[in-house]
Amino acid sequence: MKTRSIHPWPVRLTHWINALGMVGMFMSGWAIYNASPLFGFTFPKQLTLGGWLGGSIAWHFAVMWLLVINGLAYVLYGVFSRHFKRDLLPVHASAVKRDVVDALRLRLAHEHGRYNAVQRLMYWLVLLMGVLVVLTGLAIWKPVQFQELASLFGGFDFARYVHFGAMAAIGAFVIVHLALVLIVPRTLLPMITGGKRPLANGETGHE
Ligand code: HEM
Repeated sequence: MKTRSIHPWPVRLTHWINALGMVGMFMSGWAIYNASPLFGFTFPKQLTLGGWLGGSIAWHFAVMWLLVINGLAYVLYGVFSRHFKRDLLPVHASAVKRDVVDALRLRLAHEHGRYNAVQRLMYWLVLLMGVLVVLTGLAIWKPVQFQELASLFGGFDFARYVHFGAMAAIGAFVIVHLALVLIVPRTLLPMITGGKRPLANGETGHE
């Protein structure tokens, strides 16, 4: 029987680089936030990275470039290999509604190598949040050089709130994402090894 991998290697590689990088971004970002909090709280020092403001900023930028390059590689692969078209599209509102109801009834079937509509929507939203976090990050990093970008986000001060909001949305995604992996743990191994699944009608074997 002909098979193809559940998760092709470029998706796995970029996924795990992203997961690791995100830890660095959250921890260094929280340290930068603590130096000038937007709200009435700060993050515990044990959850921060960099030691002092300059160190945290250095970490934040180094990991940011890694994640931007990694993200671009993922998007290019997704488009040119047709991974996006094949696995993440379409996302119909009716299918999202149906899958949310099934999930709440704990009846959502998980088939290896096929994302349900809620997963698809969540993956697109987190990608969008990734773009937003980078753009608002650029706007608050160089508010003079990227004036247009900063004003698109309501100026330097407001862009900081949008940056924080995008971070919080990515954080919320990660919590739900990890909870789903805990509920359906058999999805984890194929995300590491690639796994195998039979070819569907009309599919060609590759990877
Ligand atoms: C330790 C942390 C993580 C674990 C254990 C994990 C686990 C997984 C697993 C098992 C899948 C496949 C789900 C399935 O087959 O149904 C997956 C897919 C995915 N994860 Fe994660 N993940 C982690 C962190 C993250 C982070 C931080 C992000 C983004 C902020 C992320 C974004 C995604 C995306 C976009 C996909 C779909 C990839 C594609 O097929 O193009 N993950 N993850």
